[in-house]
Amino acid sequence: MKVITNTGEILSEWIAACKLNQLKKGEMLDFDYKDKKILIANLAGKIYASDRICTHADADLSNGILTEDGVTCPLHLSTFNLKTGTPENLPAEIPLKIYNVKIEQNEIYIEVN
Ligand code: FES
Repeated sequence: MKVITNTGEILSEWIAACKLNQLKKGEMLDFDYKDKKILIANLAGKIYASDRICTHADADLSNGILTEDGVTCPLHLSTFNLKTGTPENLPAEIPLKIYNVKIEQNEIYIEVN
């Protein structure tokens, strides 16, 4: 489904990213869509999606560690809360972009805009 303005501009759309049964608890997946590099994570059975590139210095968070606190960057170890995108510790200070997620019939959809 796309959200389109009266001038025809696409504000957002839901993109099928992967099957729910491909992402077990504690696992993360890369998902690229156009110019976006997205991280999809199964944190204790709940699915989250965020930008995949650390806001501090360009590290790929899919190479990091997923814990109950969020995802920890592999380079300088900032941990990002996957519900809010907020970095919980330095050196990262800028939040990650968080994407809305929905699940329909075993398919994980991400809302991109
Ligand atoms: S690159 Fe992620 S904390 Fe520095």
